[in-house]
Amino acid sequence: MNDIIGVRSFVLITGASRGFGRALALEMGKVVGAGSTLLLMARNMADLETTKAIVRDARPGLAVELVSIDLETANRETFENAVRSNYGSGDHSVAVVIHNAGTLGQDGRKITDLTDIDEMSRYYRLNLFHVICLNSVFKSCFPATRTVYINISSILALQPMVTWGHYCGGKSARDAVFRVLAVEQPESVVLNYAPGPLDTPMVDDLLADTQTDQVVRTMFEDMKQNGRLLRPADSAATMVALLRKQNFKSGDHVDYYDDAAKEAMQSNTAASSSGGSSSGAATSNSSSSGAAAANTGSGV
Ligand SMILES: NC(=O)c1ccc[n+]([C@@H]2O[C@H](COP(=O)([O-])OP(=O)(O)OC[C@H]3O[C@@H](n4cnc5c(N)ncnc54)[C@H](OP(=O)(O)O)[C@@H]3O)[C@@H](O)[C@H]2O)c1
Repeated sequence: MNDIIGVRSFVLITGASRGFGRALALEMGKVVGAGSTLLLMARNMADLETTKAIVRDARPGLAVELVSIDLETANRETFENAVRSNYGSGDHSVAVVIHNAGTLGQDGRKITDLTDIDEMSRYYRLNLFHVICLNSVFKSCFPATRTVYINISSILALQPMVTWGHYCGGKSARDAVFRVLAVEQPESVVLNYAPGPLDTPMVDDLLADTQTDQVVRTMFEDMKQNGRLLRPADSAATMVALLRKQNFKSGDHVDYYDDAAKEAMQSNTAASSSGGSSSGAATSNSSSSGAAAANTGSGV
């Protein structure tokens, strides 16, 4: 098994301006090897700068590059320019792309209320089509480098939720696309990671939207009030632990609450406490929301 964590890496993270993407940038920034580069993408440059400052605080001197980009309209050329102008000498041991940007696309309408094909196209451009395009560009930019493709998925790739036709459709299709990628690229590592229900601005936006379906609203209000939303840092640390242990089959859908995630976190904690962690991986410091918690069966 070739290491993904702790080696010289090029790591591209979309949607890194806030929420889970920011947590992923920080956790990956802590564990990449010397000479690595993080390339962070989102629309809001000021928020990307804040993410960069947080990462550099934890890992002074790490190369953190920022690109303001609208993933709904970005195309092959935009992606090629963004990657090629930031990968420096390109002699990385591993190139990792983490597709984290995503939107809910819900406003209380049922799937039988949806008739606007332009609206659907915009949703799927942002939540599916650009992901396929960026993976292809990524492969062409790193022809001789080991590549790791990560899809930030959701339990809703597997389960339905009323009024979330776009979200469930997008997440499910992304999982399928990444499974195809795994069989087409057996030399790469492909992971569909479902991070669990997270306390991020996405959930705040959902609760602030007056059109949100009442059943959905009650479910998320309950999770927020009862402290059942995970800290993004804990879920990001779990994903890093999975990449370190690689105890999944390429293309698998692994949820934060799955046994593989718990096992990876246990190994991580054991390695850290015995001083055996070569690259100083962060471990979750929140036992209450750790990977051993029961699967709530809900979340975004
Ligand atoms: N929150 C949860 O409970 C939960 C659960 C399971 C899975 N997830 C998944 O985890 C991922 C991150 O979720 P989150 O909760 O952190 O969401 P969030 O707080 O809403 O953050 C979304 C990120 O995506 C970026 N983004 C949105 N539209 C974009 C566009 N057109 N172009 C470029 N970037 C865009 C945003 O940046 P800008 O606005 O700066 O562009 C932001 O950085 C998503 O894929 C989500 O589906 C979340």
